[in-house]
Amino acid sequence: MALSEDFIYQLRLGNPIEDVVNSYSTIKRHGSTSKCLCPFHSEKTPSCTIYSDTQSFYCFGCGAGGDVISFIKKIENLSYYEAVRFLAERAGIAMPDTSGDDFARKKSRTYEINRETANFYFKCLLSGSDKRGLAYFKERKLLPQTIKKYGLGYAPDQWDALRNHLRSLGFTDSEMVTADVCRFSEKGSCYDNFRGRVIFPIIDLRGNVIAFGGRTIDNRGPKYLNSADTPVFKKSRNLFSLNFAKNSSSKKLILAEGYMDVIAINQAGFENVVATLGTALTPEQARLMSQYASEVIISYDSDAAGQAATQRAINLLSSAGLTTKIIKLHDAKDPDEYIKKFGSTRFKFLLDESNDAIDFELSKCKTGLNISEDSDKYTYLRKVVGVISSLDDSLLRDVYISKISRECEINTSVLYSKVEEAIKNKHKIKQKLEWESTKRSLTQRDEINPEASKYSAQSKAEEFIILYLIKNQDKLKEIKNKISADEFVTSLTKKFFLQ
Ligand code: UTP
Ligand code: MN
Repeated sequence: MALSEDFIYQLRLGNPIEDVVNSYSTIKRHGSTSKCLCPFHSEKTPSCTIYSDTQSFYCFGCGAGGDVISFIKKIENLSYYEAVRFLAERAGIAMPDTSGDDFARKKSRTYEINRETANFYFKCLLSGSDKRGLAYFKERKLLPQTIKKYGLGYAPDQWDALRNHLRSLGFTDSEMVTADVCRFSEKGSCYDNFRGRVIFPIIDLRGNVIAFGGRTIDNRGPKYLNSADTPVFKKSRNLFSLNFAKNSSSKKLILAEGYMDVIAINQAGFENVVATLGTALTPEQARLMSQYASEVIISYDSDAAGQAATQRAINLLSSAGLTTKIIKLHDAKDPDEYIKKFGSTRFKFLLDESNDAIDFELSKCKTGLNISEDSDKYTYLRKVVGVISSLDDSLLRDVYISKISRECEINTSVLYSKVEEAIKNKHKIKQKLEWESTKRSLTQRDEINPEASKYSAQSKAEEFIILYLIKNQDKLKEIKNKISADEFVTSLTKKFFLQ
């Protein structure tokens, strides 16, 4: 459906880009531009710039950019039309016609189907003739009250059990396919998506069933099958068990990898546990967690994949302003197995003594090295300098500098000056990159700096001066004595000169 120019104009007026961006990442104003930490990639210094006069944004770090609609499209993972609707709702503006009602109806039918499906699977688990689902959960040591709490289920090992049930309730095949509980075959017949699997319903914060995960009980097909995205479900924006975790009084959330880990941890007495839904952690999920907690304890699997995912999660969670701690699981592949082997009290000890994220990074620097050997110690220290120099807080840097100096028996001041040096180098590299990306965007986006194309010879010379200054910062004073900022013809190079 085409939206009128007037409507889009009104939509933009009602949604100033600064306000919209600010609700995802705090912005700082500098005149007609503002800056914030880019919500689309991890960074420690703000490179996402918001231009008030053109109502647009551009990130010099990752290249994301556009207007307020493209911002919402990207951050909420929506289509153009959905983003417009999102912004209209945000500003209290009515959508121009009613074709959206169709979508609203699709959503409410999907919710109904999901609720009926969850009930059906729950009944099949408890009182169906096929007892394999129940036997499976029993073997995995789930208590009856846990099964009830999570509304776990069993999808019978048939092609049409759910379909026939939903048909009898008046749902159409295409509604079932929209909810992704059924699929169409190539010949066009409708069949059950989950067959012979135990079922984990995914429930949103309002208590609606929004999707399902299904685990094989006999190693047929993929281990877990998850609902695809539907009108009511985006896997990148939901977390399993957040509906329970949100009620916990703790300001800490435990983040696990899988459905069974969450349920085992919850059953062991910790309500504040969540997991992603068959994908790696996303920035949206990290932000979602930051609404309920200030600290996240990452409790991923102990294998290499789990450790790599831990690294990624630390970065995303820190960007969302959360403190992170890591649980180290010894002699168990995941929290579920750990609790079964060692009990919930010992898991609680593990939670209490979880290492913080910086310790985790530092201990990784030691992998494969024997620091009682001089050459290994040297390698270790070089890696450590990289980690410490990336910390923004100078106090925190000092804490780790003294810790490592003690560990390696070296002089604190030596380590201190190496860290300072690394910070300076990083700053130089960053300035250079920022400049290069600005230059790139200048040639692509003349509206940021229209002067560049007007005075191409002068602007080239100015660029040369800026680059020279980035490389030779000690010459700044000398150059500033010779040229004044006012002599610059393009305002962007002038800005860099003044910085
Ligand atoms: P794991 O393979 O670690 O399984 O996958 P798990 O959680 O320990 O499961 P159990 O204990 O064997 O039952 C971790 C998570 O990755 C997703 C699921 O969300 C799972 O919980 N996953 C895994 C899939 O989506 N599909 C798969 O085929 C496998
Ligand atoms: Mn497991």
